[in-house]
Amino acid sequence: MKRITTPDVQPFETAHAEVVRKVAPECMVLLKNNGTLPLSAPGKIAVYGSGARSTIKGGTGSGDVNVRKFVTVEEGLENAGFEITTKKWIDDYTKMYTDAKKAHFAALRKEGEAAGLSGFQLVFSFFGKEFAEPEYELPLDGEGDTAIYVLARNSGEGADRAPIEGDINLTKTEIRDILACNKKYKNFALVLNVGGLIDLEPVKEVGTVLLMGQLGIETGNALADVLLGKAYPSGKLTMTWAPINDYPSTEGFGDPNDTYYKEGIYVGYRYFDTIGYEPTFPFGYGMGYTTFTVEPAGLKADGKKVTVMAKVTNTGKCAGKEVVQVYVSAPQGGLDKPYQELKGFVKTAELAPGASETVTVSFDTASMASFCDTCASYVLEAGDYTIRVGNCSRNTSIAGIISLDARAVVAKTKNIAPKTDMKETVPAFKPFHTDCPNCVAGAERISLKASDIPCTEYTYQKIPAEIPHGETIQWSEVTSGKKTVQDFIAGLTDEQLAYLCIGRFEEGPGDGAFLGQSGHELPGAAGETTSALKNLGVPALVLTDGPAGLRLNQKYQVSPTRGPVPMGGAFDGLLSLIFTPEEMKMMVPPPVADLDTSTTFYQYCVAIPIGTALAQSWSEEVNKACGDIIGEEMELFGTESWLAPAMNIYRSPLCGRNFEYYSEDPLVAGKIAAAMTKGVQAHDKCGVTIKHFFCNNQETNRLYSNSVLSERALREIYLKGFEICVREAQPEFLMSSYNLVNGTHACEIRDVQTHCLRDEWGFKGIVMTDWTVTGGLQESHTKYGSATCANNVKAGNDMTQPGGPHDKKSIMDALDDGSLSRAELQVCAGRILESIKKLAMR
Ligand code: BGC
Repeated sequence: MKRITTPDVQPFETAHAEVVRKVAPECMVLLKNNGTLPLSAPGKIAVYGSGARSTIKGGTGSGDVNVRKFVTVEEGLENAGFEITTKKWIDDYTKMYTDAKKAHFAALRKEGEAAGLSGFQLVFSFFGKEFAEPEYELPLDGEGDTAIYVLARNSGEGADRAPIEGDINLTKTEIRDILACNKKYKNFALVLNVGGLIDLEPVKEVGTVLLMGQLGIETGNALADVLLGKAYPSGKLTMTWAPINDYPSTEGFGDPNDTYYKEGIYVGYRYFDTIGYEPTFPFGYGMGYTTFTVEPAGLKADGKKVTVMAKVTNTGKCAGKEVVQVYVSAPQGGLDKPYQELKGFVKTAELAPGASETVTVSFDTASMASFCDTCASYVLEAGDYTIRVGNCSRNTSIAGIISLDARAVVAKTKNIAPKTDMKETVPAFKPFHTDCPNCVAGAERISLKASDIPCTEYTYQKIPAEIPHGETIQWSEVTSGKKTVQDFIAGLTDEQLAYLCIGRFEEGPGDGAFLGQSGHELPGAAGETTSALKNLGVPALVLTDGPAGLRLNQKYQVSPTRGPVPMGGAFDGLLSLIFTPEEMKMMVPPPVADLDTSTTFYQYCVAIPIGTALAQSWSEEVNKACGDIIGEEMELFGTESWLAPAMNIYRSPLCGRNFEYYSEDPLVAGKIAAAMTKGVQAHDKCGVTIKHFFCNNQETNRLYSNSVLSERALREIYLKGFEICVREAQPEFLMSSYNLVNGTHACEIRDVQTHCLRDEWGFKGIVMTDWTVTGGLQESHTKYGSATCANNVKAGNDMTQPGGPHDKKSIMDALDDGSLSRAELQVCAGRILESIKKLAMR
């Protein structure tokens, strides 16, 4: 750990920004190119659109990183030597936008106050309520032959996106101006500064569209690099783009009470491919500045592994990287199947024009199985498994066919999902593509016997016996190896055990933990483990938000009695939209009497690309590199847990937090999260916190909304990514989600939080709740109530964050009435102590 006492840019900031600039092009997806890109040289350029100056580096909410500054599109282009011919347009747009945004927040404030909200509850009600792009009229009079239109959209936690103009849909102004620019300028590109879906149907005649995304600190510089061909885009979509009403999840999305996942496993391309629908852009799609062929080059398979080889050749005129994707079409049997599912992928190294690389993609034979709810098993049905390889879900060739002689059970589990009566809608099987008879007849065939495929049988833990009371010992005896964590636990009172399970809660007024910045040791951190055992020498672990970087306060000073005191709040940006400067002044806490103002400490963290953009790289290397940035900053500032990666499935493009997440596909989500985990956890004492576990697929009423789904959909789609990340990378922490699943809060479901997570997948770390899931911040006005801390402990959800008096009471009451045993409490407390022993930096 190092304390930085100068406001000057530090070498780590420069080095990390360079990494971001280097990897950012890999995250961009070129959706269309009529030859406009790359541009031949910087020159005069007309720049229009909301993202020109008000560029979005990442979404809002707890994942919004407090950077020193970031490079906007306007700045990036000017840094690269472009002469922007639309400065007046940008000035006028910015003024119009700022005024309209202020008016929007003033109206929201009125609404909130009329509903009786004040203070932080009022602030909380603003979370994620993005301002839809307004309509306006400004002349498109920028000179020159070349123009870009930068279309921006923001979103964030607390609210979902809306299928309206100015959000998912384009405004009338945008359609008019984009089409006009497309006609007026010889070289025109539409650049999307977005974190998710935009319906581009009305501007489909535009020939060049670049999905830039939101790329953190270097957004504008990275765009300039790509426009000029100093770098090339090599990302691929990790979701299907289609008009919003064509997704099966749109109907019924965002119900405050119950959301029925009627589409079951048919999420994203699993649905669109099966019904033969032509999307705007398919899953796995993306162009570069060159072209590639991907030819099957061999298939191997046995009871354990399937291995596909493919030869990738750069057939164009520029260098590039290609993503090789392997899909499997499984036989229809007792269980219905989607047309195909992604089973593996790999990104090539950079290939020069004419160069080739032969890549290998392997996956477990068992991963082709489906989950059978009624028999609580993963099953491979008898029949032909067609293995496809290509560079997009809609552009593959058959690599071979694996024929299985009989039904094989590959894993026997227990049922983990609370029951539901909901009936799923299985789409009629009319795939977008039929294999040509010759392709099937000529395909390499491998026969597998069901008896050659091993079956895993899981056993599930019981609550161990209580550790009997023993002598109280100091923590140093544990860290020195003289005593064990078990010995230490024996000496703890019930109350001390309870404290371990409830974050950093302290008795007494004035210590209220606030969402997103309740840390004491590290200003701006979101939370900590308890400090109530400091007298025994137990240090606190510090938990800091992500996923687009580390979210900390920029500056603080230190008081000998209070410790670090932040200068400015972590949410000042949002507050300044809601409150007047006078009101903001009144909110400044009273000065700390013994504050040492002679020294100010600085924490300027670096923002990396948003989750969606990182996943679009389809690159382990890119994600490890960004994980490395995070790990280095964690070591530097002193935080053991990064509250990221966030990896929920895009069930619907309407989910307000999709930009933080990775994909509609669990394999992409799991592999990218695993790479990120490896990057962060390569740093000593640094752990990731994969979140939000599980089925947190909407933001509307996020603390009290109930996701209703089958166990098959749960296991194959919504848990799968977490499973892959846990099995491949063993994250140190996991955050359970706010929502309920089939009527019970996710954090209270022992079958998932313990039996599936630990007994099936082998998770060894700490499970913590999402912030205030047990109430306190936003009360329920709908059908379901809050989770309780005692139930969380019973489920094996070790720690309730950020902790409050009601959480302590919940545990103590449950111990008293016997609904919670000391042994159960010891299990969770013990795991927290093990993590403290392993990771504590202080
Ligand atoms: C978010 C989490 C975040 C936590 C702490 C919650 O509102 O859902 O993703 O890590 O706050 O800031």
